[in-house]
Amino acid sequence: MRKWASFPLREGDVSRQAHADFPEQAIYERETGRSGFFGPATHFHHRHAPTGWSDWQGPLRPRLFDLNQLTENQVESPWQVPLLLHNAHCKMRTWRVQEKMPYLVRNADGDELLFVHEGSADLYCDYGHLEIVEGDYVVIPRSTMWRLEPKSPMLLLMIEATNDSYQLPEKGLVGNHAIFDPAMLDTPKINEAFKAQYSEQSWQVQIKRHGQTSVVTYPYNPLDAIGWHGDLAVMRINWRDIRPLMSHRYHLPPSAHTTFVAQRFVVCTFVPRPIESDPGALKVPFYHNNDDYDEVLFYHAGDFFSRDNIEKGMVTFHPAGFTHGPHPKAFQAGQEYRKKFTDEVAVMLDTRDALEIGEAALATENPAYVNSWQVT
Ligand SMILES: [Fe+2]
Repeated sequence: MRKWASFPLREGDVSRQAHADFPEQAIYERETGRSGFFGPATHFHHRHAPTGWSDWQGPLRPRLFDLNQLTENQVESPWQVPLLLHNAHCKMRTWRVQEKMPYLVRNADGDELLFVHEGSADLYCDYGHLEIVEGDYVVIPRSTMWRLEPKSPMLLLMIEATNDSYQLPEKGLVGNHAIFDPAMLDTPKINEAFKAQYSEQSWQVQIKRHGQTSVVTYPYNPLDAIGWHGDLAVMRINWRDIRPLMSHRYHLPPSAHTTFVAQRFVVCTFVPRPIESDPGALKVPFYHNNDDYDEVLFYHAGDFFSRDNIEKGMVTFHPAGFTHGPHPKAFQAGQEYRKKFTDEVAVMLDTRDALEIGEAALATENPAYVNSWQVT
C-alpha cells in the first residue's frame, strides 16, 4: 500500500490535534484532503479565511440552486423528470407527484434512492405495501416494480446509483447498532392493502433502461406476490431514526454521518445534534478542499447553521477544486459559541466523479452565491 509519510509532517506554528486548539493569530484552519478525507491530509493554519476571494471568473464555482422554482418536475412519470446533477454513476432528480400513479415503473439502470422531502404516500411494489412519510429514505433495488398513491402532495429527491447498488456503510469502531440499528429498517408487507390491489385488469409497466423508457402491458396486475423470502428488498428508514455520532471535544467529519454508500458516491445525512462544547474545539465545519469529490447538499429542514440565506428545498453544489467552509457570520457565531444545538436536516451527496449540471437546475441558479462569503 502506498504511503506518503510514516507520521504527520509539520512546519511552523500548528496545533497537534486537527480541528482543535489552534495557534493564536491563526484561527482559520483548512484541511486539504484526498480520498474523501480518508487519504493523505494536511491542516493549514491561515491568517485569512480561505473563502475570502474578491472575484471569481470561469465555470468552476460554488453553486446554489433553488429547486423550489423547478416546474419541469411536475410530470406524470419519474422517467420524464429532467436530470439536475449527474454523471455516469449517479443521477440526481426531484419529482413532484400529487396523483395516484396509473402505472408501475421500474428502473433497470440502477438502484433508486427516494428521499421524501414533502408529503406521504402508499408505496406498492414487488415486495408488498409500505406507507412512506416526510423524512423517509426508501431504497428501491434495481428493476423493482413500484408505484405511489400519494396521501398528500409529494416532493421526492431521487438519487440513482447507475449500474450499481446501495450498501450500508462500515460502522467500524462504533459497531453495527450505532447511528441506526439495522433492525430499524422497514420492508414492505404482503398485507391487506397489498392483497386488495391484486387485479385481473390490464396494467402497464414503464421500464427505464439506458435512459429510455419502454412500456410493457400485462392483462393483470403483476404486483401479485403472495410472499417472498431473501436478502434483497425495498428498505425504508426515516432521518428521525438516525442517532448521530458526535463528540463534545471534536468536530467529526461528514463521513461520520454516512447513511448509504455506492461504488462511486456516498449519501450522508445531517440531523439535529448538540454543537461541540469544549472551549478549544472547532464548532462549525472546518474549511476544506475535498480534492477528490464533488459535494452536493440538499437542505430539507431546520436552520442551516453554517450557511446564510439557505432555505429548505435548495441545493448547494461545491465541485472539487477550491476551498469552501462556513459563511462569515456562522464562523463568527461558532467562535463565540453562540449556538448550542443545530436543528438542520440535510442530505449530502459526495461523488468521486465530476457532476454535470442539467439545464433545469441551471435555470434555478442564484449566481450571487459565489460572493456570499464576502464580509458585509
Ligand atoms: Fe464540503
